[in-house]
Amino acid sequence: ADDGYRLWLKYDEIKDAVIKKQYTGQTRFIALSGSSKTLEAAAGELQIALKGMLGVNVPTVKKPVAGSSGIILEILPASNQRIGDEGYVISRQSGNIHIAGKTDAGILYGTFALLRQMQQNLPLTHISIESSPKIQLRMLNHWDNPEGTIERGYAGSSLWKWYDLPEGVDPRYRDYARANASIGINGTVVNNVNASARFLTAEYLHKVAALANVFRAYGIKTYLSVYFAAPKTLGGLKTSDPLDPQVQAWWNAKVKEIYSIIPDFGGLLVKANSEGEPGPQDYGRTHADGANMLAEALRPYKGVVIWRAFVYKADPNADRFKAAYEEFTPLDGKFEKNVIVQVKNGPIDFQPREPFSPLFGNMPKTPLGMEFQITQEYLGFATHLVYEAPIFKECLDSDTYANGKGSTVAKVVDGSLHQYPITAIAGVANTGSNRNWTGNPMAAANWYAFGRLAWDHTLSAQNIAKEWVKMTLTSEEQSSNRIVNLMLKSREIYVDYNTPLGLSRPWSGVHYAPEPWQNRSSRPDWTALYYHRADSAGIGFNRTITGSDALSQYRPEVRKQWENPETCPLPYLLWFHHVSWDKKLSNGKSLWQELCTRFYTGADSVKWMQNEWSAVKNNMDPEMHADVAARLEKQQREAIWWRDAWVLYLQSLSKQPLPAPFKQPE
Ligand code: GCU
Repeated sequence: ADDGYRLWLKYDEIKDAVIKKQYTGQTRFIALSGSSKTLEAAAGELQIALKGMLGVNVPTVKKPVAGSSGIILEILPASNQRIGDEGYVISRQSGNIHIAGKTDAGILYGTFALLRQMQQNLPLTHISIESSPKIQLRMLNHWDNPEGTIERGYAGSSLWKWYDLPEGVDPRYRDYARANASIGINGTVVNNVNASARFLTAEYLHKVAALANVFRAYGIKTYLSVYFAAPKTLGGLKTSDPLDPQVQAWWNAKVKEIYSIIPDFGGLLVKANSEGEPGPQDYGRTHADGANMLAEALRPYKGVVIWRAFVYKADPNADRFKAAYEEFTPLDGKFEKNVIVQVKNGPIDFQPREPFSPLFGNMPKTPLGMEFQITQEYLGFATHLVYEAPIFKECLDSDTYANGKGSTVAKVVDGSLHQYPITAIAGVANTGSNRNWTGNPMAAANWYAFGRLAWDHTLSAQNIAKEWVKMTLTSEEQSSNRIVNLMLKSREIYVDYNTPLGLSRPWSGVHYAPEPWQNRSSRPDWTALYYHRADSAGIGFNRTITGSDALSQYRPEVRKQWENPETCPLPYLLWFHHVSWDKKLSNGKSLWQELCTRFYTGADSVKWMQNEWSAVKNNMDPEMHADVAARLEKQQREAIWWRDAWVLYLQSLSKQPLPAPFKQPE
């Protein structure tokens, strides 16, 4: 039975005898001339995979074997213009499969690309693939704490066994690195953005170094989140003011120490003046002052500062939507060259659907990195099945119109729109200590999809799902199509019963249960009411010029799509408008009718998902099938819970009966 541990790197024996025979004949040796840990990792991966898929032990050799066919790993000259430093070329020449890259990491990525073809049983005879990543830093952000918990983690506790490290090195770290390398992830921030200063102690740096020692061979650099007030709490200084020379000296020394322990350390991720975290504003300084101080310390080592733009104030009269733009756009051009500002995809916080953050397109002189959330904080944790590639794509494909039509968010992030010197994309990880890594086995598809899109944002959500399903669940065509279809619909279904028509943040404290009526909290902007603004007249947040005017942060072309309630696409309607209950929508239904329809069809659709899942039962591993089936059963119950909570609450305001044919919840 499959316990999910091998993720999409299962390498199960190939069932098709013809293909198996063909592959066996084409992969009789693995030739590699150089030697490095990364090349060894590539060759080792090929050996594991070929053993699994073909049942043969393929030898590594120094030179291609004459008269035989095999795989050749080779370095391309640096002068090759066609591919980037981490890119690869796979070709077939004189009966051999060549995997070539300018760097060992490129060869490693090419190796995984070849295996991906084989795992999908695609022919290799005329194989010809060239690929380079579109974004430089492709990272996971772990929100893991020193005591082993994970903020917003739903798959057990942290992968990192801080107590055992640095002596105890869990073999799982290597499998983690393999999984990441297989999808092109080349950086990992191992600790929570709500950072403990403890990670900067020598004791912890040595633990982190032990992880970095494992990740290095797989092309993965290690990064840390830092606590901005560490000079005070750890260093015993009187201040953490970024303009104070003693504070600067403290960081310089700390960074020097980090690099003495981890020579290829990637850099620092910072959450500052956000949700109570300390930051430069505590001293009347700006985000740029704070970031530049760290950038200065990191520059000699070519390290980067990744400064988060997730900020908002506890002001009941302000619109949180506008906060990041207001704080950051005036600082455009004021950051040092090795600073990246990391922006969440939407202006609020990883909601099931958000418009793209208006920072994208509005900071042409500051490299903006994308932050997506892979872990399902607002997407039903590890219970609900939500395939996230459509969420990522929707944002990346959005047009900012910053330099005219076609100025997509993807082009901002990959640097092509504003010629950013550094480019970055991060996903908040959904991994944990559960045997199957992600709790819900289907959530592994989200980790996979993030990596694939980080490498190439032009891939389609559908093709990524196809690959993943074939490699992970089943090679049977019909079942695989069914599962892909289910995955592609899963996000809209979730939105329908959870936050239809542009609603947001109707959650109770832990972000799981429905609590749209919640109107009290320690902060005014942490109530549900703040976001949906339902009252006896209607529902939705007026962000037009007669309201908060958040729409003015977008280009006129974007504004035009959303500012008129008559023409605003329904998925975004309540993001931008307070709409009366009986307002007639473009589809002829009243708002109230449409909302009810979404809640009910959303919940009903989970039944459909269950049926689809039942239909594939005989073509996949029974244990994994049962695991997902149980989660879907719970999702079905909870979708009804969501529907009823919303309907009963909104009915207390709208005072309208349920439209036919829906049955009034009790
Ligand atoms: C969300 C999340 C927090 C997290 C924060 C952040 O608000 O609920 O747990 O710390 O985002 O991204 O910093």
